[in-house]
Amino acid sequence: MGAGLRRKLIVGNWKMNGSRQTVRELLGVIGARSKALGCEVAICPPFVYLDLCDVVLSATGIKLGAQDLSEHANGARTGDVSAAMLTDFRCRYVLLGHSERRASHGECDEAVARKALQAITAGLSPIVCVGETWEERQSDSTHDVLSRQIRVVADVLARSGQLMALTVAYEPVWAIGSGVTATADVAQDAHAFIRRCLAGYSASIAQSVRILYGGSMKPENAAALLAMPDIDGGLIGGASLNAQQFLSIADVATALEAVQ
Ligand code: PGA
Repeated sequence: MGAGLRRKLIVGNWKMNGSRQTVRELLGVIGARSKALGCEVAICPPFVYLDLCDVVLSATGIKLGAQDLSEHANGARTGDVSAAMLTDFRCRYVLLGHSERRASHGECDEAVARKALQAITAGLSPIVCVGETWEERQSDSTHDVLSRQIRVVADVLARSGQLMALTVAYEPVWAIGSGVTATADVAQDAHAFIRRCLAGYSASIAQSVRILYGGSMKPENAAALLAMPDIDGGLIGGASLNAQQFLSIADVATALEAVQ
């Protein structure tokens, strides 16, 4: 299987932004264009807006995702949200191990792996975020960091026969929200490396797993990034809060789908 058989996926990560009014406005514009998009599109709003998004998106082809979930199925876990609750709101995807959660909530690779298994067991597709800090890149340890982050999750999923349910997002920490984007060549190198790590488990699964790029992706740089052979989509933060910018990126992915 080659890149052409991995359908491009564009995911909006709204982080902790929005209000009921801006959710309606943003999704009104995006939803109205959804039928013209030839790539897969998903939105990951804050938990409290999932219900509203589910209602507004119901007549569109746009999918819903969450930004995290509990590694436990239910019980006395104040403030947590379970995988089953997310499927109750028709979520298809869940972001896991975002660098902001690793940094501010102390999420380790092992917790991310447990969450990924919870997600898959409930029927959600986990989008596991990996990426190096600027210091790690400067000290030439990017590949070490990526292989560790991938291995801990892939070991658990491969043992349960669930590796094919994984989506990876390569998000260099230094590029997130900074306006600095990895060049297409730098990103491609990391994506190809991640695919080689997955090939250590199964060559065919490695070819089918989608690897998204995230980190200041914008309409201006999306074409160069998304044209790379191992970049199968984007995880968009800041630009996903602007309907025109988000749609422009989805248009780039749609155009690439058409030529593949
Ligand atoms: P950004 O965020 O596009 O604002 O850099 C991406 C992300 O953190 O998922």
